[in-house]
Amino acid sequence: MNVLIFDSNEKLNEAGANIITSLIQTNPRAVLGLATGGTPVGVYEQVVKDYDRGLVSFKSVKTFNLDEYVGLPEDHPESYHSYMNHHLFRHIDLPAKNVHIPNGNAEDLEAECRSYDERIADAGQIDLQLLGLGHNGHIGFNEPAHALIRGTHIVDLAEETLKANARFFDSIDDVPKQALTMGVGTILKAKMILLIVRGADKAEIVHRALTGPITTDVPASLLQTHPHLVVLLDQEAGRLMA
Ligand code: F6R
Repeated sequence: MNVLIFDSNEKLNEAGANIITSLIQTNPRAVLGLATGGTPVGVYEQVVKDYDRGLVSFKSVKTFNLDEYVGLPEDHPESYHSYMNHHLFRHIDLPAKNVHIPNGNAEDLEAECRSYDERIADAGQIDLQLLGLGHNGHIGFNEPAHALIRGTHIVDLAEETLKANARFFDSIDDVPKQALTMGVGTILKAKMILLIVRGADKAEIVHRALTGPITTDVPASLLQTHPHLVVLLDQEAGRLMA
């Protein structure tokens, strides 16, 4: 595991974008696993700058997002479809057919989960999986539990997750209660994992996840077992790691 701590958001964003850009420069057909939420916004901004400078093309890249809310219309401003279009996809030359996000409005959600796993398998291995970290240690929407699920599945979001994500909605009651998420088995199968965490409120969970016992109570602790894990932290999130 390589843990890097940055004293400015700008440097962290540049480091994150560099990892993504240089992967695609060396492997133009890379398969990316992508995350949403507040954490990667600045990294995506920097990736778009790299694209604008002609450093990288996404013409042959494939992307698979970690998750999507159940029952939120795709064109709702807080859907992860809208998020990805807004922050990344509409700014770059990634073909729409290469974009994959679970469909939280599918009539048969179980079938959608199976089909998502098949699409990931058809693309071969995910080369780089980008992750943020929930306050409760979730990755994707794999919430703390007695047992974790390997593949894509429907999940009831934890109270803590609903509270954290309420900031994006008018009220907590508007946050969808369920989501589809990639499973931890799929996440851990990625060749490389890039975990990014920001903010003092995540210092303790970062420390527990990366140095504490490996337990399904802290799903991110399973990342300790991954052979190619890179962690980018701002100073606040890295306070207990230095
Ligand atoms: C997002 C995702 C979540 C977030 C996590 C942190 O696709 O899967 O695990 O990465 O909830 O969210 P932020 O970045 O908003 O603090």
